[in-house]
Order: sequence, then C-alpha cells, then structure tokens
Amino acid sequence: MQDAAFGFHDLAPTEESFRDAVLAGLTHEPKTLPCKFFYDSRGSALFEEICLVPEYYLTRTEIAILEEYAGEIAAHIGPNCRLIELGSGASIKVRILLEALPAPAAYVPVDISRDLLREAAAQLAGDFPDLPVIAVCADYTRPFQLPALPGPPGKRVGFFPGSTIGNFEPEAVVRFLRHCAELLGPGGEMLIGVDLKKDPDILEAAYNDRAGTNAAFNLNLLERINRELDGDIDVARFEHLALYSEEEGRMELYLRSLATQSATVAGRRVEFAQGERIHTENSYKYAIPEFRALAARAGFAAVDTWTDPAELFSVHYFRQE
Ligand code: AVI
Repeated sequence: MQDAAFGFHDLAPTEESFRDAVLAGLTHEPKTLPCKFFYDSRGSALFEEICLVPEYYLTRTEIAILEEYAGEIAAHIGPNCRLIELGSGASIKVRILLEALPAPAAYVPVDISRDLLREAAAQLAGDFPDLPVIAVCADYTRPFQLPALPGPPGKRVGFFPGSTIGNFEPEAVVRFLRHCAELLGPGGEMLIGVDLKKDPDILEAAYNDRAGTNAAFNLNLLERINRELDGDIDVARFEHLALYSEEEGRMELYLRSLATQSATVAGRRVEFAQGERIHTENSYKYAIPEFRALAARAGFAAVDTWTDPAELFSVHYFRQE
C-alpha cells in the first residue's frame, strides 16, 4: 500500500490477546501484568504527561543529549544512511537527528500502532519534503523483514531512544539486539538511549512524582481491564508502588491491594489478599560498561557514548563487530 507522501508497508502484526495475558497474569503466583498493555489511548496520554513531570528526568535529559551532540552523532552516521526507528510512536526525537544528518537516504519508522504510525509518518514527510519516509507497521520486538529501501547503497542505522530497552529483561535485550543486527545487516549501527544507575532517591522520585501521574499510569491498567474485559476491580482499593531494587538494578512497579478483595475479570473470579502485589513493570538502569557488555553479546561494539553533566542518562552509539 503506497500513500502519496510516504511509503506504508503493513506487515499485519498480530497483537497478543489482552484477555489471555491478563487472565494468565492474574492467576500466576505472584501476580503479574505485562507492561506493554499500559499503552491504550489513556495510558499513552498519561505517559506523555509523565515525560513532562519535573521528577521524570529521562525524556528531557535524553533530548538535551541528542541536541548537544547531534553534530557528533551525525558525523558517526555520515551521508546516505537509512535511519530505522524501532517503536517510533509520534517520531518526535528523531527530528533532532534528521535536522543534523548529512543527506539521509530514508527514514523508516517502525511501530505496531497503525494509526499513530500513519499520522506521524505523514507529518514527518510533510516537514522533511526531500526525505523518503517508508513507514513499516510491525511488532519490532519480534523478527521482521524491512522492505527494499530507496537510494544508493548506504548503511542502516537503528534508533531506539527513550530507555525503552530498560523495560526488557537483560536476556531479552541481547535477543532484541541480535534481531537488530540481522535487520540492519553487515556494517549496521545502533543509537540507543539508556537510563543510567544513580542515587535510588532520584530514581524512586521519578516513578513516584508528586502530581501522581505515574500512579495514574499504573492504575490505568486496572481501569483498562475493567473497560475492556468487563471487569469490576475496585481500583480505589489498589495503590501504586515504585521501588528501586539495588540487587536487580531496576525500578519495579507494582499495584498493591489495600484490602482482601475479589473481582470478576472476563467472567473469571480473581482473589486479592490485603497487601498482595501485582508486578506491572521493570525498568532496568545500567552503568555504561554494563550496557556495553550486553550489546557486545549481540555483536555490537561501542563507538561512543554521550551523557548529560549530571550523568543521569546515556546515549550509546554501536557498530557491528
Ligand atoms: C517507556 N519506559 C521507558 C518508561 C520507563 O521509565 O521505564 C515507562 C514508565 N513507567 C513508569 N513511568 C514510565
């Protein structure tokens, strides 16, 4: 399917059933819910709000690093690159790179949300009229093939900002980066945003903002269950919990039941003990050498890493070995 202003390739990704995942997670011991289900339209809007709260330093710090070092990043990437963004969403941060890159051959946003992808690609193609934009609707967490890309041969560079990689388990990071290596082909390079290990007080504040936006984001998962799975969970009798585990090097998000209670979800009865937790997310934090070691296991060698002056966040540039 081709649109006038940009290419659109629909690989028809299948989404995991929300119902199956919720029933499996709520009958598991301990209870869990996959964090990818945070992002219905309400959850996506709440995440955008989180990115603006003063305690959540990740987004603004990564943007500041990209702005500060756009010239150096562009020099590593060079001319004629095909820039492939995995989980491109609204394609906001990539604009900083596109402004700085010397004659990129194509921008390839990849996202599972078809409508958002189409809208973002159209807007970007309008703002960068000389840049071929080839949108690919796919689940980037599973292996997929890229369509033929226009222009003279040039390297493929993957872009994965936002420390979304922190929401993967470390072994899944290695698997994901191996898929990226295949997708990018020999000589492929990657630019990845990774949140750094730091004072746990700063981390816990980022996920427990005073305005309660992280709490609303986490609790929205229960509201989503009620909306979409005919649930009757008493959301007011759950609280948001975000704790840093030094041992695991990660923020852990939970929904904790404030009472002994039961609920019906998709026709099934689920019991909650007072104080029982549902584990909803891990957000791993990495020291620079730790993340480089994971990337090396997928065949990527560190070329450069940029941080902010307070060393809150890192942006890594890797090349296939
Ligand atoms: C999307 N991801 C990088 C966010 C994070 O910081 O792990 C998701 C998030 N969870 C709670 N607040 C933000």
